[in-house]
Amino acid sequence: MLESFSVRIFTMYPRYSVRFVAFIVLFIVAIIYMSIDRPTSCLTWNDVDTDRTHNRHRIRKMNGDSNIRSFERIPGHDYGYIHNPRNTCRGDDDQQELVFLLFLVMSTPQETKRREAIRATYANESNWPIMKEGNIRTVFLIGDVDAHDYTIQDAINGEMYYYGDIVQSTEFVDDPVNQTRKILMGFRWVGVHCRHARYVIKIDDRSMVNQRALLKHLNRKNPFLHKFILGDVVTKVRVTRDKRNWDYIPREIYPNPTLPPYIIGTGYVLSPDLAQAIYQVSHRIPVFPNTDAYVGLCLQKLGIKLTKTVDIYFSKRIGYDYIGREAIDIFDRSIVVPYVPESKMYLTWRLGQL
Ligand SMILES: *[C@@H]1O[C@H](CO)[C@@H](O)[C@H](O)[C@H]1NC(C)=O
Ligand SMILES: *[C@@H]1O[C@H](CO)[C@@H](O)[C@H](O)[C@H]1NC(C)=O
Repeated sequence: MLESFSVRIFTMYPRYSVRFVAFIVLFIVAIIYMSIDRPTSCLTWNDVDTDRTHNRHRIRKMNGDSNIRSFERIPGHDYGYIHNPRNTCRGDDDQQELVFLLFLVMSTPQETKRREAIRATYANESNWPIMKEGNIRTVFLIGDVDAHDYTIQDAINGEMYYYGDIVQSTEFVDDPVNQTRKILMGFRWVGVHCRHARYVIKIDDRSMVNQRALLKHLNRKNPFLHKFILGDVVTKVRVTRDKRNWDYIPREIYPNPTLPPYIIGTGYVLSPDLAQAIYQVSHRIPVFPNTDAYVGLCLQKLGIKLTKTVDIYFSKRIGYDYIGREAIDIFDRSIVVPYVPESKMYLTWRLGQL
């Protein structure tokens, strides 16, 4: 078939014959290449996002094999840590310190710059007023790095040496499909090492904190809250049953057509006892990569009803090009500002600083 086709072209366009044959051959090779059955499942991060430099939001390829493994159960035994700053919430005398806020930052090995920006802004205690309610503490959660990336691991070791604020697991590779494991590691860590904190703030390393809004809205007079969670709630989202999507959830794990109400993970506040309870109930729910839905499912299993927050935001973006009244209004009500470009981290902090 190939021959007779090219012969016709020869006779029709003798002058272009060589180029045409080359083109046809390439075309056929391309067709054959595309039709080969390779694993094509693609993990895509669903969030609207234009910042392509960020790893977690890149389109990732994953093969069927890791797809299966990502639904393993979280093992019941303790996590192993490469780094564990166990004294974060304790004083030099090993006594519990008063901790008002613990920031639990979902980070990735490569995001050194963002961690730096966070250490200079909300994680820096000298940027907060002195509060009788206690101190501000921050830990960054990251997974294991590929054995080949020893330069990255060296850099992380250095950060740990200087700042002592990295919780790094040996139990899972740091990868978008393993985000759920990461947050569960964080919640477990809270339960063991910082249960006495007043509030835990789970936050993405791409989000920034609005100090003014945070201190205004967190009730400082109340004593300790129990089974408390505050964030932007999403309801009635359809479950993805397409295996090629990153947020696929097998029917065997969750049969209902719509997800339980869940809180958007860019940032939320919870009480440490709830963090611990989520970790404990997670032993009964096989892990899947859609972290926010997973935590939502844990909350449902714990019998915690979520209601939408009014007047305060944890996941509303602000624009940096045009700062009009509306943008200022949104910012003023945002406890957490999500998707902050790296270059705007400091600016966003200063906008909200007391
Ligand atoms: C925290 O803030 C203080 C005072 O502004 C500054 O001297 C210090 O270098 C900051 N720490 C970090 C880690 O940025
Ligand atoms: C996720 O973590 C598991 C171990 O818990 C690991 O086997 C797997 O390779 C990780 N996934 C990816 C894509 O790295």
